[in-house]
Amino acid sequence: MRHRPLGQSGIEASVVGLGAWAIGGFNWGGTDEEAAVAAIQTAIDEGITLIDTAPVYGFGLSEEICGKAIEGRRDEVVLATKCGIVWHTQRGDHFFDGPPGPVYRYLGRDSIRYEIEQSLRRLRTDRIDLLQTHWQEATTRREETMEALLELKAEGKIRAIGVSNCDVQQIGEYEVAGPVDVDQERFSMLDRRLQRNGQLAYCREHNIAVFAYSPLEQGLLTGKVSADRGFPEGDLRRGSARFSAENRQRILALLEDLKPIADRHGLTYGQLTIAWTVAQPGLTHALVGARNPQQAKENAGGGDAQLTEDELAQIEEAVARHKPQ
Ligand SMILES: NC(=O)c1ccc[n+]([C@@H]2O[C@H](COP(=O)([O-])OP(=O)(O)OC[C@H]3O[C@@H](n4cnc5c(N)ncnc54)[C@H](OP(=O)(O)O)[C@@H]3O)[C@@H](O)[C@H]2O)c1
Repeated sequence: MRHRPLGQSGIEASVVGLGAWAIGGFNWGGTDEEAAVAAIQTAIDEGITLIDTAPVYGFGLSEEICGKAIEGRRDEVVLATKCGIVWHTQRGDHFFDGPPGPVYRYLGRDSIRYEIEQSLRRLRTDRIDLLQTHWQEATTRREETMEALLELKAEGKIRAIGVSNCDVQQIGEYEVAGPVDVDQERFSMLDRRLQRNGQLAYCREHNIAVFAYSPLEQGLLTGKVSADRGFPEGDLRRGSARFSAENRQRILALLEDLKPIADRHGLTYGQLTIAWTVAQPGLTHALVGARNPQQAKENAGGGDAQLTEDELAQIEEAVARHKPQ
């Protein structure tokens, strides 16, 4: 497993990270806690040191499961969580209505200080290695948010600062007040916004690590979402346009074209996708969701493979041929 730095923080983490969104259950049709704990522990056994969660994933449940899974192994992991999606206050921008009531995007200083204490308790730790602003909002000056994060850093409660769902201008606004170590954004073979808009290049120039989220397109790029696979009530993939019959067909055809490359390296489609993701210049880490030990073990295997320039070019051509809507 390769490791890369998290910006200027002095922290290094495995290029494959375990994403703990699905483990929280909400929007993913529920969770199997025992399998989730085992998935996290297997990920660590397989060399994954980066774990990414958030308070809003299952409204605290994902953080609690992560806390349970890493008990006694805290020093083996780089623990990343987030702040700024809240249900304890009605300040900021209304985001959605969830099981605990209205949920807001809010990055005010007092709210961040409240949230960190909740996260530390749920994660059963005295420090968060990376705290990321989960979504950006319009009611708080970014300078205030950064100052709050710097205070937490000075107090030893967090070690690095990240942002998510942020554009280049917003990153620049944070940087005026303090260093940004990580930018976490949606990115996959099928979602190349960061390359088109120059954000990957910007982060590279500014020494900011970039985490890809949903790099497997929520399972589609593993090749295991067949034409007839159904999703339960409450799973966001049910009824999603990305998961339409036509798109599934296109993606399975794309993967079929990639089979010779996968076979040459002895990789599954999911592992090939992960290897491709972390081979993109400026894209430093892939956060990959896993709900059970088998998935965690398989996904960790994508962190060792190195693709050639020629193979990367072939993948690019195949993506262009089969690009879904
Ligand atoms: N900052 C943000 O706003 C944001 C947004 C989204 C995600 N994220 C982060 O990024 C992480 C990853 O994104 P994601 O969970 O949306 O999507 P993903 O990693 O692209 O897909 C994860 C899902 O794919 C399936 N899967 C994973 N490994 C597999 C394997 N080896 N074989 C077959 N199926 C497999 C699993 O679902 P099934 O088993 O149910 O099929 C799993 O839940 C999240 O957990 C979270 O940490 C952040």
